[in-house]
Amino acid sequence: MIKTEQLYEGKAKKVYATDEKGIYIVSYKDDATAFNGLKKGSIVGKGAINNRVSNHLMTLLEKQGIPTHLIKELNDRETAVKAVTIVPLEVIVRNIAAGSLAKRLGLDEGLKLSSTVLEFCYKRDDLGDPLVNEYHIKALNLASESELDQIKEYSLLINTILGDYLLPLGIELVDFKLEFGRTEDGSIILADEISPDTCRFWDTKTKEKLDKDRFRRDLGGVEDAYKEILFRLMGGA
Ligand code: TMP
Ligand code: ASP
Repeated sequence: MIKTEQLYEGKAKKVYATDEKGIYIVSYKDDATAFNGLKKGSIVGKGAINNRVSNHLMTLLEKQGIPTHLIKELNDRETAVKAVTIVPLEVIVRNIAAGSLAKRLGLDEGLKLSSTVLEFCYKRDDLGDPLVNEYHIKALNLASESELDQIKEYSLLINTILGDYLLPLGIELVDFKLEFGRTEDGSIILADEISPDTCRFWDTKTKEKLDKDRFRRDLGGVEDAYKEILFRLMGGA
């Protein structure tokens, strides 16, 4: 399989078409941005770590019945994936108050939520990915009712599977962001990535942040935190 044209370059990944129909190649970059691109930097080795972490977690999800875009890891930072059209929603799943939720609702970071919170943001960088509800999604035709039902069901199931998997590794799944895609036959599958860029991972005991918040908040030790997550997932801890 060979790359043909570059279809898209995002903040953390590039996507290429290939000579095989229905297959794209995703290439993970070391570039990091925060606050809708206002803060820019680079996290050495991030691309390769996120590639492996995301593929590892998607393999786990596939085994538990969640359809994902993953086809095959090709090398350090590239993976072959099923071609999809991304549903223009960021689905955020939250177990513990942190980040924008803590700020918006005046909650202490670390407060355990009484039940899981699902949020949707409209994927529009020019608008800063605004929060939308199910009425907006319907009125703007961002997803059909049945697609949204499927997305919600998968998101909650993914939360349970990942949370149960990470806990014995000493990782608390605070919150995370998912993106889904439509395949050519119209089904919904998990796309994008699941990595320390897109999740809040806290050490269960020390509550140390092991994710991109170290970059967002200038906490230092960014590369080490990403390496620690990979190490624990690969059976090191
Ligand atoms: P938030 O608290 O800043 O809204 O972030 C919620 C979760 O979503 C957190 O795990 C980080 C992730 N996230 C992304 O993956 N991409 C983004 O652009 C933002 C703002 C958050
Ligand atoms: N992807 C977001 C951006 O560049 C950053 C984030 O993850 O907070 O703004």
